[in-house]
Amino acid sequence: MISENEIFQLQQRVQHALTSYDWGMDPTTLSDPVEYVISLGGKRLRPVLCLLACKLYSDDASIALKAAMGLEVFHNFTLLHDDIMDRADTRRGQMTVHKRWNDSAAILSGDAMLIKAYQLVGEVPQSVAPAVSRLFSQTAMEVCEGQQLDMDYEQRSDVTISDYLRMIRLKTAVLLAASLKIGALLGGADTFNQDKLYEFGLQLGLAFQLRDDYLDAFGDPKLFGKKTGGDIACNKKTYLLITALQRAQGEDRTELLDALALSSPEQREEKIRRVLAVYRKVGVQEATLEAIRKYDDLAMACVYSLDLEDDAKELLGRIASDLAGREH
Ligand code: IPE
Ligand code: IPE
Ligand code: MG
Ligand code: MG
Ligand code: MG
Repeated sequence: MISENEIFQLQQRVQHALTSYDWGMDPTTLSDPVEYVISLGGKRLRPVLCLLACKLYSDDASIALKAAMGLEVFHNFTLLHDDIMDRADTRRGQMTVHKRWNDSAAILSGDAMLIKAYQLVGEVPQSVAPAVSRLFSQTAMEVCEGQQLDMDYEQRSDVTISDYLRMIRLKTAVLLAASLKIGALLGGADTFNQDKLYEFGLQLGLAFQLRDDYLDAFGDPKLFGKKTGGDIACNKKTYLLITALQRAQGEDRTELLDALALSSPEQREEKIRRVLAVYRKVGVQEATLEAIRKYDDLAMACVYSLDLEDDAKELLGRIASDLAGREH
């Protein structure tokens, strides 16, 4: 049996392990950005999912700690590069690495983190190492594919909801799914349960990225920790923008297209304000919240077919609904 308090303890455990870790990088100009981004915290969602999945099938989650850390380090590597790609100035309530240092520092410290992530994820028992390594490599490649689609779509205006879902499955959902599956594998779950947890992670990840996109438009920047409106400024083909492009007719459509054409830094705030006004007018907010609920429900449906006690299933269900309603 596992309680909500234990989830908090898992989070504390990974937090402590990450902040006291010796990165073994010289010069310190390489490790400073790594320590900086790790010290800013974040939800630690991926390592917690990994440790939790392990604990569902084994008494002790220690066996998964290094892999869990590796998954968080990998995630943080993607953030360093993503913030350059997305021209983002703030993350976790503080300056992004490329803003505080420069692009070169964010690129190279990010690369170093990717290498560290592989080393950490490799620290698993020999018997499961090939399976863990295969899944991790496949996932890392899929994240790159998703990130490339995300960038390609900035330039396109014909992106469909199904293109969008594929893109967010790759850039975000597969890492949540792999975190759960790696934990389950290390905990000794059979392949049926490993695969069900993976499927749960995929649906959870779709809801998670939809919520991220929603908060980028409608969230409170103080809680969200990132400057809002960045997706609009970059013409990201989010669920919100695709829905608005589908729904806006007549003068709303003209207004949306005119606003999207604004591209200079001085026009950033005006662009965001005008696009948000169209979003509100055509009901984008409600449509996105409904989509989040849909994928949250699909995640819940996966939970019920797992071989677990009812209280463990309820806990997974609560995690899904907390993430679907999160403000940060
Ligand atoms: C941000 O991830 C990137 C996305 C996939 C949306 P998180 O929202 O998990 O960020 P942190 O780690 O909590 O800061
Ligand atoms: C990023 O998606 C997913 C990654 C693989 C990093 P976003 O670009 O929406 O993430 P945030 O909003 O910057 O955290
Ligand atoms: Mg991005
Ligand atoms: Mg981004
Ligand atoms: Mg985002």
